[in-house]
Amino acid sequence: MTVEVPLSVVVLAAGQGTRMKSDLPKVLHCIAGQPLVEHVIKDALALKASDIHVVYGHGGEQVQNALSAYDLIWAQQTERLGTGHAVEQALPAIPDDHLILLLYGDVPLITVATLKRLITVSVTEAGNDALALLTAKLSDPTGYGRIVRDNDGNIQAIVEQKDATESQLTITEINTGMLAVKGKLLKKWINKLDNNNAQGEFYLTDIVGMAAKDGVPITSANPTEISEIEGVNNKRQLAGLERAFQLRQAHQLMESGLTLLDPARFDLRGELIIGRDVSIDINAVLEGQIVLGDGVTIGPNAVLKNVSIGSGTQVHANCVLEDSVVGSDCDIGPYARLRPQTTLADKVKVGNFVEIKKSTIAEASKVNHLSYVGDTTMGSNVNIGAGTITCNYDGANKHQTVIGNNVFVGSGTQLVAPITIADGATIGAGSTITKDAVANKLTLTRPKQLSVDNWQRPIKK
Ligand code: UD1
Ligand code: MG
Repeated sequence: MTVEVPLSVVVLAAGQGTRMKSDLPKVLHCIAGQPLVEHVIKDALALKASDIHVVYGHGGEQVQNALSAYDLIWAQQTERLGTGHAVEQALPAIPDDHLILLLYGDVPLITVATLKRLITVSVTEAGNDALALLTAKLSDPTGYGRIVRDNDGNIQAIVEQKDATESQLTITEINTGMLAVKGKLLKKWINKLDNNNAQGEFYLTDIVGMAAKDGVPITSANPTEISEIEGVNNKRQLAGLERAFQLRQAHQLMESGLTLLDPARFDLRGELIIGRDVSIDINAVLEGQIVLGDGVTIGPNAVLKNVSIGSGTQVHANCVLEDSVVGSDCDIGPYARLRPQTTLADKVKVGNFVEIKKSTIAEASKVNHLSYVGDTTMGSNVNIGAGTITCNYDGANKHQTVIGNNVFVGSGTQLVAPITIADGATIGAGSTITKDAVANKLTLTRPKQLSVDNWQRPIKK
């Protein structure tokens, strides 16, 4: 049965996260560079929720600020009186005829596919509204609420670990906490909750017994992977889910053709778009928006942030590229750094220990060794000799360097900006160039070489 009623998603995010031992509210800790709660909100958006309600408590303002880009409805839970009480805070803003999907801000890896299955079983084959629970079988169910079924397999109740009998504790099917149910039903049951239990809390899970009593069908769906239902309470669990998420991304990318030399040593904190035959060596850290064209190879220990790289380009070991656009058939590194606002045309070579900042380099130019190029526009077929630097900063302001086509700059040169080196110019090695260099001529600055007579090397005393 397909469900087409409006969907209201409720995200519980009122937990303090004491065990994180951190000043940051728990749900703002990150997996793949994105707050836990944001992963859940993105799922809600993918499900085309008509409204998303976030129940907040501790650190409310920080959470609201971090999520200001989203259109959310906020409900405050001032006292932590249990999951039933937490959900209750969001209900006044939800119409009776909406389907409510309950998610948790600290259970970040739940997938849209699993939630769709859960939503599907919120209506029975016969077309009746059901209470749909996301349940899972665990080899060690300790700590979780247990799903109590009758002899026919119908769900009768959820019993919390602390309230369970010896025999109930042997049940391995657990409550993940996520559920889907019509607003009208949830409101009715929530009103009847009490806190007569081992923890003195208003248990949301008590609605299951009420549904059974009211003759409302109780259905269930299961996640595909256990990581989908795991919560974060401490830094160890955070790291565990980070790895699970990274592996999930790596597997998806490999399925779309990416070669990863070791999927366990790959970190993507953003979005990666790949062409065919792209290969990434170990220990890559990719952040933001990354586009890698056909045949691009990325060497070990690369750090790429918001970069686009054209087809056939090779990035060798230990390069750091940020906010840059690299053309096709370029050769970068090893040990190269491209800083923000760098644009390289096709067939450019940037070698080891070269830093390029806020510069544009045209086709087939080479900066092969030990150079700094900043605030520069460089033409095509230029060769920049080893150890050349643009002196772009006078201590107060930044200045531009303009280098024409077919320029050759000898090694160990300083180009003191603002300065223009015209097309075809050659700069003699070791020069400090402070005035514009004319086209097609050799320009150099060089003190006379001399040999000092009667000079002796100091001798160790
Ligand atoms: C709950 C379920 C249990 C389930 C388990 C799955 C209840 C009564 N029990 O137990 O059946 O197996 O989750 O992890 O629902 N929260 C609030 N405000 C509150 C209380 C909780 O926002 O007053 C939030 C927490 O921050 C957390 C979530 O609700 O994100 C679950 O709360 P927690 O106390 O961890 O529930 P459990 O006792 O683990
Ligand atoms: Mg609890």
